[in-house]
Amino acid sequence: MGPVKRSLFSCLYQYIHFLMILWVKCWGRPGMESWIRFAEKGLSGIRKAYGGSALLSFPRPDSLRTSCYDLVFPSPLIFAAFKDQLDVIEFWINLGMGGGCIKTILATPHEGNPYPRLQPVSINGQAHLINALGLPGKGVKGLQEALTARSFLQHQHVPIGISIGGRSVDEYIQVATEMNEWLKTQPSTQVYFEINISCPNIAKGKSLAQQVDVLDGLLKAIRAVTDRVIFVKVSPDESDAQLCKIAETLQLFPKMGINAGNTQYRTCTSLGLADQAISVGGGGLSGPSLFKRTYEVVQLLSNYQLPIIATGGISKIEDIIQLKEAGALLFGMATQLVMDPFCIPKLNQQLSQVKKNV
Ligand SMILES: Cc1cc2nc3c(=O)[nH]c(=O)nc-3n(C[C@H](O)[C@H](O)[C@H](O)COP(=O)(O)O)c2cc1C
Repeated sequence: MGPVKRSLFSCLYQYIHFLMILWVKCWGRPGMESWIRFAEKGLSGIRKAYGGSALLSFPRPDSLRTSCYDLVFPSPLIFAAFKDQLDVIEFWINLGMGGGCIKTILATPHEGNPYPRLQPVSINGQAHLINALGLPGKGVKGLQEALTARSFLQHQHVPIGISIGGRSVDEYIQVATEMNEWLKTQPSTQVYFEINISCPNIAKGKSLAQQVDVLDGLLKAIRAVTDRVIFVKVSPDESDAQLCKIAETLQLFPKMGINAGNTQYRTCTSLGLADQAISVGGGGLSGPSLFKRTYEVVQLLSNYQLPIIATGGISKIEDIIQLKEAGALLFGMATQLVMDPFCIPKLNQQLSQVKKNV
């Protein structure tokens, strides 16, 4: 029954998604962001209306349990930091995600870049996204309120990451410190931090990656306030030499990991889009074309004593197998979850099959 149910929902979702993208391409309005939110609200609505758990729940095979320091992921498939809508995150966890990271937050509420700031792009017939959201969000207090209102950390029994952003070193430290203080009052210990030093869509979003001594100072300051697991998320746009310097720095700290990686910066025109398809003329490309670089970066980083999250371009089981063989422990996904979240139970099933056959 499971595979049939999954295939039915997957077909239905992909059909509606295809119509949505067609609509955006023909009419432009409402933009891609509104459509995606509309689809997600619909799914959350169905979940609520039908008691949720049974209809849209898929078990994770036990064999997929993956440990990283004191975190235990029931599956190595995790959602990458790109959503802060907790209803959607709950929906993915119910589908079988082993955990994942909430979208990057800044210290205070932030509007992000002007619209349009998200567009679908087809490359070699495969669906991609380009975004320049610019880290819109509720800020630290807003996120804490949202988590409290849903008793989120109490109910979700998978590791949850908080992606820390900043427009200055002080802001990164402020976000990490305030979140850490608040987390001490919460029931779950399965919470980790992910420091985003790879955002192509805000000024200075990647500057820490280019100043390893400053990154070192930031990590010392954050380590002084927390002993939680910390991942640092790097950009595929960094050179190999710079990525090695970052990895060398991270190795000096306890309970650190590295996430490879974020979106790749592209201009709209380089992707065959109108210059203003994204209001700021370009943004981060995500989707299958990132895979080649993700694989290269994972191979490079496997030379260091750091657990690796592989993120970027994962869409099928073959990608995961290749990245696992290259040294990745966990597998982050974003674009494929927008295209078809029902890939989660399918990939979990395929992964458990692979484990059985090893
Ligand atoms: C709409 C959108 C918003 C994103 N926002 C964030 C963010 O806030 N923080 C972050 O670290 N990465 C962000 N990302 C990057 C994703 O987490 C992920 O690293 C990237 O999309 C590559 O993975 P994918 O090819 O599976 O999409 C965003 C990606 C998308 C598409």
